[in-house]
Amino acid sequence: MKKDFINILDFTRDELEQILATAQELKARKKAGVVETGMAGKTLALYFSKDSLRTRVSLEVAATSMGGAAVYLDFKGKPMFERESLPDQARVVGRLVDAVAIRTFSHQDVVDFARWCAVPVINALTDWTHPTQAMADILTMRECLGDTRGRHLVYIGDGNNVARSLAAICAKLEVKLTIAAPAGYKLGDDLVRIRREAGGGDLREVADPIEAVKTADVIYTDVWVSMGQENEEDKRLAAFAAYQVNRDLWRRAPDGAMVLHCLPAERGREITDEIIDDENVSRVFQQAENRMHIMRALMQEFVVNRGK
Ligand code: CP
Ligand code: NVA
Repeated sequence: MKKDFINILDFTRDELEQILATAQELKARKKAGVVETGMAGKTLALYFSKDSLRTRVSLEVAATSMGGAAVYLDFKGKPMFERESLPDQARVVGRLVDAVAIRTFSHQDVVDFARWCAVPVINALTDWTHPTQAMADILTMRECLGDTRGRHLVYIGDGNNVARSLAAICAKLEVKLTIAAPAGYKLGDDLVRIRREAGGGDLREVADPIEAVKTADVIYTDVWVSMGQENEEDKRLAAFAAYQVNRDLWRRAPDGAMVLHCLPAERGREITDEIIDDENVSRVFQQAENRMHIMRALMQEFVVNRGK
C-alpha cells in the first residue's frame, strides 16, 4: 500500500524516527561520495501553485540525485484544478509518475488529491502545514544539540503553517515548545487539537517573547506575512512589531541558544541581519540544506522502499 507524507500527526514517533534516521544515513553517505540509484526509472511530479526555492530544489535534487527524474508543473497565477477536476488529475498523474509533491493553499486539496492518486503524495506546504520543513528543523537541532528530547524550542511570531508543523513534531518527539505570538495570531484551538491528536505534548503559547526565550535552546521565527496574505501586510506588520528576533531578544536567552528560520527571511522585519548572519548563533543555512536530506529520505522511505 502507498503511504503519503501530508501531516506529521499521521505518523507514530517510531515512523518519524525512521525517516530522520534515513535522512542522517543518506546525508552521511552523500558526504562520503556515495551515489544513490534507488530512484532509477522513477519520476517525481511537482504540483506547485506558490513560489519556492528550498522545497522545489530539494525535491528535484532528491529525485534526480538518486537516479530518478522530476517534472515541475507550474500553477502559479491560475487555479490548480480549473482545467481539469482534482479527481481526474490525481488519477491521471498517479498513472504517469511514481510520486507527487504538492505546494498549494488548501490543505484539503492535498488530502483529496492523495485519496484519488495511486502513488505517494508529499505535502510541500499548504496554508495549514509544512511538515517536510519541521522534519528538517528537528534534524538540524539534533546535529547541533544531540538528543532533542526535553529541549526547549521557542517560536516567535505568527501562528502559521510552520508553527503548526513544529507543534506537531514537538509533541510527537517530546520537544518542549513555546510559541510567543500576539493576540489574534496564536494557534489557540489548533494547539489544543494538535496536543490531543499527538497524544500529549509540552506545548504552550504566551504573548511575551522575552519571557518565552528565558529557557530557550532554540529560537525560531518565520515571516509575518505568508504567501497569500499579502493584502494583510500593514495589519500584520503592526501586530508583530514587538516580535522581532534580534540581538536584544537573543541576549535574554541562555548562553548558546541557537537561531533557526525556515527561510526565506524578510530581513529587518522578523529577524535582523546581525542575528541571521552570526555564524555562532544562526544555523539557517544548515537547516536549508537539511531540507534536501529529508526529501531524499522521503524518496527512499515512500517511493524506493514502497512495497518492499
Ligand atoms: N522554507 C521553504 O519552504 O522555502 P521555499 O518556500 O523557498 O521552498
Ligand atoms: N509561512 C511561510 C513559509 C514559507 C516557507 C509561507 O507560507 O509563506
